[in-house]
Amino acid sequence: MTATTTDRKMDKLIHLMVKNAMVVVPGPKIAAEIGVSRSTVWQYIEKLRALGVEIKGHPSSGYQLQKLPDILAPSLIKPELDDIQIGRRILHYFKTDSTNSVAMALAARGEEHGTVVVAEEQTAGRGRFGRVWYSEKSSGIYVSVILRPALAPSAAPVLTLMAGLAVHRAIETSTGLAADIRWPNDVLVSGRKVCGILTEMSAELDRLHAVVLGIGINVNHREIPDELKPIATSLRIETGKTVSRVQVLVALLKEIQEHYDLLLHAGGATIIERWSAASTFAEGKPIRVLTNSGEYRAVTAGLDPSGALRVRRSDGREETLVAGEIIEVK
Ligand code: BTN
Repeated sequence: MTATTTDRKMDKLIHLMVKNAMVVVPGPKIAAEIGVSRSTVWQYIEKLRALGVEIKGHPSSGYQLQKLPDILAPSLIKPELDDIQIGRRILHYFKTDSTNSVAMALAARGEEHGTVVVAEEQTAGRGRFGRVWYSEKSSGIYVSVILRPALAPSAAPVLTLMAGLAVHRAIETSTGLAADIRWPNDVLVSGRKVCGILTEMSAELDRLHAVVLGIGINVNHREIPDELKPIATSLRIETGKTVSRVQVLVALLKEIQEHYDLLLHAGGATIIERWSAASTFAEGKPIRVLTNSGEYRAVTAGLDPSGALRVRRSDGREETLVAGEIIEVK
């Protein structure tokens, strides 16, 4: 694990600046309110500016926020969450290696259900199949949520589908875009990936200890690296305007809470039903299935009750995929 969480005093500063948005706040007043020296206030302000937060002024004149900042600071997220369990504790990092690594380490030390780890930048963001997750500073949402469900490890695939469903809904409600889910849980817009989910867990034979849902969303990326352009996009590219990461993250945490409750109370079948209604990949989609030993063509034929994907191969044989990767054949 690298780096330390954002100083609570820095979080207080962000909160203070937002509360007094557009007002000139004298440096000594800020220093007194958040409990640091005036030179520390200056350092914090410089750090925020480096992240793109527009603040006018200097120590002698006071500071004035020019625009509400889009920083995933706990003080901006938590008040929007009412009293839900997801996000009751939020740990924010300006930079860390991987929020999933941080969350897994915290979970191993007993961190409670619902804790959220979020970063403005990851230096070693991890994707599925050992891939790197491109984690550009302050453009995306890089977040991991710790869950402690009283479920067996066999429920893990449905938890993963539940997370995809929550992201799908959060993106649709906060941007108005039409999203799709590619099994198991990539969220796509216009056929290209805007979100990936890496689920990691610790478990015994019959009981899940902790599940970490690691979610990466491309939000305000203006450009996608050349090698990813054909397969990835961002919410900004798709809407043509800057999207509030704070709003998307708030929507996401609320949707995770709602879908998690649905899973516990209504059961996995309801999640699978909703997933199948939300995804064009559930049934009748021509795909390529990528496996360790090569690839083959097939057509999707629905999810089974465990969340595995049934596919029909060109020669008529049926397979059930429990993990792996599929790509649409156009
Ligand atoms: C994938 O599609 O391959 C999954 C990508 C998951 C990326 C997220 S970003 C937040 C969390 N921390 C990580 O290191 N990975 C996940």
